[in-house]
Amino acid sequence: MKYEPRPVLCVGQATLDCVWTAARAPSADEKVRAKDFRMQVGGIAANAAIAIAKLGGRSQLWSRVGSDQTGSIITRELVAANVNADWVQPQSAATSSVSSIVINDDGERSITNFRGEGLYEAMAEFPSNAIADFEVVLADPRWPQGARTAFTRAREANIPTVLDAEVGDTDALRDLIPLAQYVIFSRAGLSALVGESMPHDEALRALYDARHHKCVAVTLGEHGVCWVDSTGFHILPAFNVRAIDTTGAGDVFHGAFADAIAGTMPIREAMHFASACAALKCQARGVQQAVPTAQEVHEFLGANTNNGYENS
Ligand SMILES: Nc1ncnc2c1ncn2[C@@H]1O[C@H](COP(=O)(O)OP(=O)(O)OP(=O)(O)O)[C@@H](O)[C@H]1O
Ligand SMILES: [Mg+2]
Repeated sequence: MKYEPRPVLCVGQATLDCVWTAARAPSADEKVRAKDFRMQVGGIAANAAIAIAKLGGRSQLWSRVGSDQTGSIITRELVAANVNADWVQPQSAATSSVSSIVINDDGERSITNFRGEGLYEAMAEFPSNAIADFEVVLADPRWPQGARTAFTRAREANIPTVLDAEVGDTDALRDLIPLAQYVIFSRAGLSALVGESMPHDEALRALYDARHHKCVAVTLGEHGVCWVDSTGFHILPAFNVRAIDTTGAGDVFHGAFADAIAGTMPIREAMHFASACAALKCQARGVQQAVPTAQEVHEFLGANTNNGYENS
């Protein structure tokens, strides 16, 4: 019988992204003509779930949408991307989250995000024994109560947990950090917590707690990723690619990392794999279309064996 890995549970945000490609983003009182327009599912946890599915893994999203047209589109698109959306729950009298993204000629993004309304008011109900169906739990901090519930259950069931420590409610982030085994900040998420001036190694060492954590990391865009684990501080530079759209690179990184951990890959290899997935994603527009297949990642890694891993 073919071995079917259990899915990765992704908990958190799902949005509808309206993406314009234009020479530049408009400034105040200015109209800019777009070259292209697309609508696609976005949101931290949703992008991670889509990335895992595209990499050939299995993923399920636990999220909330409004009982509106946007919510229906989000759910439909997730299913089309092979993500199990059974727990994407429409909330009555809630409004779905929508983002407007302009990508300029340099590949930079300007984002206006409406986080939705009334989505997270109701308590997060999670079937008590359902967590055992999953290999890994990945959560973002946009739905703190959902993340807390899933992480707590995962810990009881000895299931690995990954936190995408993106910028958000700082108290929620502080609350979630000790509940996750693998904490991976974005640069903005880490700065929001410890300030701009603290060196990354110092900040990560201060946050790393061997009682809870397998690693505490920060992704640094084109500068790669660094982390602290039981063996010390490590830096992995990004792969050198021609980036044309970095939208969701961090989300894809986290999804790929969770997928790698689900396959019991060690931390360093998982960071390497996730960096390759995110770099390949940056070479093409969008998320779903741009995430590579596992085969493409392995070919890329085969052709780019050393991207300057450092250890201290
Ligand atoms: N220009 C780039 N070239 C190569 N790799 C990149 C580039 N930008 C991002 N990456 C890869 O993606 C990872 C995550 O990117 P980044 O740190 O920008 O995430 P983020 O700040 O969470 O952004 P978001 O969540 O909005 O995608 C990086 O650690 C790196 O491995
Ligand atoms: Mg991010």
